[in-house]
Amino acid sequence: MMDWTDRHCRYLHRLLSRNTLLYTEMVTAPALVRGGALHLLDFDLAEHPVALQLGGSDPAELAKAARLGQDAGYDEINLNCGCPSDRVQSGTFGAVLMQDPGLVADCVRAMRDAVDVEVTVKCRIGVDEQIPEEVLPEFLSRVGAAGCKRFTIHARKAWLQGLSPKENRDIPPLDYGLVQQMRGLFSGLHLSVNGGVTSLDQAEAFLAAGLDGVMIGRAAYHDPASVLIDADRRIFGDTAPGLSAEDAVLAMIPYIEGHLTTGGKLAQVTRHMLGMFQGRPGARVWRRMLSEGAHRKDAGPALVEQALAAFQRAQAEAADSDAA
Ligand SMILES: Cc1cc2nc3c(=O)[nH]c(=O)nc-3n(C[C@H](O)[C@H](O)[C@H](O)COP(=O)(O)O)c2cc1C
Repeated sequence: MMDWTDRHCRYLHRLLSRNTLLYTEMVTAPALVRGGALHLLDFDLAEHPVALQLGGSDPAELAKAARLGQDAGYDEINLNCGCPSDRVQSGTFGAVLMQDPGLVADCVRAMRDAVDVEVTVKCRIGVDEQIPEEVLPEFLSRVGAAGCKRFTIHARKAWLQGLSPKENRDIPPLDYGLVQQMRGLFSGLHLSVNGGVTSLDQAEAFLAAGLDGVMIGRAAYHDPASVLIDADRRIFGDTAPGLSAEDAVLAMIPYIEGHLTTGGKLAQVTRHMLGMFQGRPGARVWRRMLSEGAHRKDAGPALVEQALAAFQRAQAEAADSDAA
């Protein structure tokens, strides 16, 4: 997610779950290939498994960008066919590609020829006046024939004109039933559903109903502990003990120290940690101390330790008043 799932966010999320597949923000192929912005590919080895999401619509350029992604060490290259923002439309990539499955197929073919890692696609069920029941199967069939075997389907249309990107994530109605139908039609494809999933209960229900995967976006960002900590056990059957939210915060401290040493800013990391204790007593003081303090000139890891201590005090007080 642009501006959200940067490398600091992904490092934190990986501490919470060993098995979930993490995605980068969309990186455009022109930025990598023409702009030489290779720093956009930087990531920490701890983030594996991690997929690089590319935006673009020129097969040769996407092939080069995919190659750069593979060389940087990404486990998967994903093509964005779902993002409706104006900026992205003007470059002819994102959701507008739902109108041209032949071009997407060409892009996928070129990318697959350039890399050994898996090439996957994230798409919508359609755009504008398209009829999803017709468009989606044709899209999956043509892009699948080009060798993409794994799709993540955001189960709503995108309106390319008239709705903001934010509105396009909420207003067009979700049609999970259509995604389920695709499961029946395309037994050779790995299909994940995306859009509006806020809990592991919901994710488990989709998997029980036959879908192959579930992508969780906003809920995983705003409430990472609830979504990610139990995912290893409940979704992947991995019963090895994991970190608690508090332990993950402590494990971020050396990471933050490293980031500051290389000239980074505390807030660049802590902004992704604000939701760590979402819904728990003390969540507010944690959030407030981090958001007010992290921008100060001398702010460092001690702020995180102080905010954690304040959270823990609030927890203890809540437990005392429950017991009273
Ligand atoms: C701030 C923000 C940035 C996003 N950026 C991307 C992106 O770069 N690539 C992408 O495929 N989807 C992007 N999305 C869409 C999400 O991946 C997801 O499809 C959408 O939010 C619906 O899923 P959710 O209800 O689980 O959040 C973004 C969403 C948000 C909120």
